[in-house]
Amino acid sequence: MTGNVRPAEMIRITTPELAEAFIEEQVKEIREQVGDKKVLLALSGGVDSSVVAALLIRAIGNNLVCVHVNHGLLRKGEPEQVIEVFKNQMHANLIYVDATDRFLDLLAGVDDPETKRHIIGEEFIKVFAEEAKKLEGIEFLGQGTIYPDILESEKGIKAHHNVGGLPEELNFELVEPVKLLYKDEVRVVGRALGLPSTMVDRQPFPGPGLGVRCTGAITRERLAAVRESDAILREEFAANGLAGKVWQYFTIVPDYKSTGIRDGKRTFEWPVVIRAINTRDAIEASVERIPYELLEHLVKRITTEVPGVNRVLFDLTPKPSGTIEWE
Ligand code: XMP
Repeated sequence: MTGNVRPAEMIRITTPELAEAFIEEQVKEIREQVGDKKVLLALSGGVDSSVVAALLIRAIGNNLVCVHVNHGLLRKGEPEQVIEVFKNQMHANLIYVDATDRFLDLLAGVDDPETKRHIIGEEFIKVFAEEAKKLEGIEFLGQGTIYPDILESEKGIKAHHNVGGLPEELNFELVEPVKLLYKDEVRVVGRALGLPSTMVDRQPFPGPGLGVRCTGAITRERLAAVRESDAILREEFAANGLAGKVWQYFTIVPDYKSTGIRDGKRTFEWPVVIRAINTRDAIEASVERIPYELLEHLVKRITTEVPGVNRVLFDLTPKPSGTIEWE
């Protein structure tokens, strides 16, 4: 796919037929671009990279090498699920790299959101380059960039690790087959490619992962609080029929402590913020009206089960004025 501007005449992909036409066109374009060379793909397990993986598998089969980097900022159970789905079920050529310490050491003490994003993005590229060097003949880098990433990067709303910034010495040419699509279109294409609904319908997850939800300078303890509270939220949303209904839901643990009481003793601990939003394309978003009983249940579970947390808040802010993520 050439150019970074979606042509005015491009029809929104809403049906399996439109998706099939898109897939056919992309498979052809990918084959033309890549030939018999190998493509290295950052497979995070999110909708975008999974759909790109499926497209590339369709186009070039085993010449796609998927690399799943665990940057230590993934959700609970996520690396295990990526290995299960792609390696065991789809038989993809998958390399798993646990780079947790490397990322967290680099991020220690860094509190500026965009600097955090840049560090994570750059380290990602480095890890891929290292993997590529171990492999023969990698010339391309597949990426799950989607159109909102491009629009928001151009407007300067945020830096995005999926857009630009590749060091020239890497000699990787980008393959970005869904870069002109909106999120809803990526899902339609994923379904047409035969990806399971658990993958296609899963909520989006940012490249910098839980790192942008552990606001300010990341610590392992607070990161664990983000991960555990997120797992509880996901479990409760699934149990209460909200998992497939709400577009994106997650927790944030700000770098701030307040006083509380536990077992008759004073505590000084973090709050967990719950965010649950609905949107069509992530450009604007409204807040899901969570049943009050469920919110109370979440408060109880999170404050008793997550170490270091004594309060739970619910973010009532739509986008705009807030963005979906807190950083
Ligand atoms: P915001 O916070 O900009 O988020 O309203 C819009 C959507 O984009 C996701 N997001 C990102 N995805 N890398 C990504 O791959 C990023 O740096 C990033 N920042 C935000 C966010 O989760 C939401 O779905």
